Amino acid sequence: MTAMPAPEISPASPGVVFSRRSPISTIARLIRNPLDAIPPETFIHPLVHVEFNGVRRLYITDPALIQEALVKNSASLGKGDEVRRALGPALGDGLLTAETPSWKWQRQAAAPAFQWERLKGFLPAMIDAAEKRRDLWALLPHRQLDIGHEMMQTTFDIIVETMMSGRENIDVAAVERSVSDYLGPSGWMFALGVLKAPEWVPYPGKSRAGAAVAYLRGVMRDMLERRRASSEDRKDLVGMMLAAHDPETGRGMDDENIIDNLMTFITAGHETTALGLAWTFHLLAAHPDVEQKICEELHRVVGNGNVQPEHIEKLTFLKQVFNETMRLYPPAPIIVRNVEQPFDLGGHHLPKGMVLMIPIYAIHRHKLLWEAPERFDPSRFAPEKAKERHRYAFMPFGAGPRICIGSAFATMEAVAILAVLLQRFRLANPGRRPAEPLMRITLRPRNPMMMELADRPPFCSPLEPA
Ligand code: HEM
Repeated sequence: MTAMPAPEISPASPGVVFSRRSPISTIARLIRNPLDAIPPETFIHPLVHVEFNGVRRLYITDPALIQEALVKNSASLGKGDEVRRALGPALGDGLLTAETPSWKWQRQAAAPAFQWERLKGFLPAMIDAAEKRRDLWALLPHRQLDIGHEMMQTTFDIIVETMMSGRENIDVAAVERSVSDYLGPSGWMFALGVLKAPEWVPYPGKSRAGAAVAYLRGVMRDMLERRRASSEDRKDLVGMMLAAHDPETGRGMDDENIIDNLMTFITAGHETTALGLAWTFHLLAAHPDVEQKICEELHRVVGNGNVQPEHIEKLTFLKQVFNETMRLYPPAPIIVRNVEQPFDLGGHHLPKGMVLMIPIYAIHRHKLLWEAPERFDPSRFAPEKAKERHRYAFMPFGAGPRICIGSAFATMEAVAILAVLLQRFRLANPGRRPAEPLMRITLRPRNPMMMELADRPPFCSPLEPA
């Protein structure tokens, strides 16, 4: 006997909530800050249905349903038109944006660069970049800094050093500016995508974003040409891409495809981690008790010396702090998928063309999944608490086959940078104003997070009693 097909999902389906926000309000929110376009019902219900301009969207926050969609039914999903519109001009057919089967062999080609043993070999370069930043900070006369900018520079140095064997003559400040210019109007890109406007339609910041992409791709092209011209056979990510072949077609990566991936790894590989770090410093400034615990751990694990690669895995509380920051401020706040092949999810039939929204930001602050979700509390990530929550209640790196390839790299890097900098400095938020999160594909602060540096007793040693 064949099973009855599940009824097609609709606003009337049991367990599904229908968002009634007006289309005009949604578009205005998308342009201003796509984070505010997440329907408020999403923070309290597991499934929220939104229909707009003939497209049906389903916001999923139930971890078991997320697993069913992104893991079990991953083959039925694509990245879809909206992702292609927002990221395609910059990242082309690179690993983040490619659809299967082009995605599959690119992932296989890049995977060896992220094997655990290899990642551990990157730790000295990560610590070295953090120490250079620390030494620059020590020389700052005014003791004020924009922490977002500082972290972008540090993680940029690390990604090019570890994956591309050095930054050579790349102008990091110009790259940072260009990434911001590209992401700046992304709210417009989403809004026009939702409105199904033709791609030629102008919007504020469009020509600047176009110039930024042309500049960035030019930088990558120069890097690739230098590499092709050199006879050196380096075993880094670029070397792997130059040597890669699709096992089914025998096709190698052409120059455009390698540039797509250089763009992907350089942008996805530094911006997200930098934002996670900037939000961590911001939260620590408001939670001196947590900072004190980090200091104690640093003193216990590292002692009166410099941070070494073997310390990183032992800094477990620091890793908890980074995870708790990514819970509240997930650097990639929303994942989008398109239903390419219809399938059933939680007793509902999802039709082809439906858009699935996985709002990581709302999952991480969901009232049914977290106790006092707005509270910053790194003890949630103590190892003994892991069993208390579903694996996909916390998913800063996504889920399923498209999960972030750089997750272990990013966590290791973040702990190393925090350890080196917090061992030497305290960072205060002089205005004590909480920064407002603004989604520009990634989760940025609306305004620069200016912080004030203060020295700590050497190596985080306990303060002498006065
Ligand atoms: C805290 C830092 C990071 C966060 C929060 C983050 C988050 C994510 C998320 C959520 C996805 C899945 C997107 C989706 O399913 O549509 C993703 C994919 C990806 N990330 Fe990361 N990422 C981080 C760091 C990195 C680093 C360091 C690298 C590279 C060195 C990297 C490279 C990539 C790539 C290439 C993909 C696409 C993977 C695929 O589709 O096969 N990310 N990232």
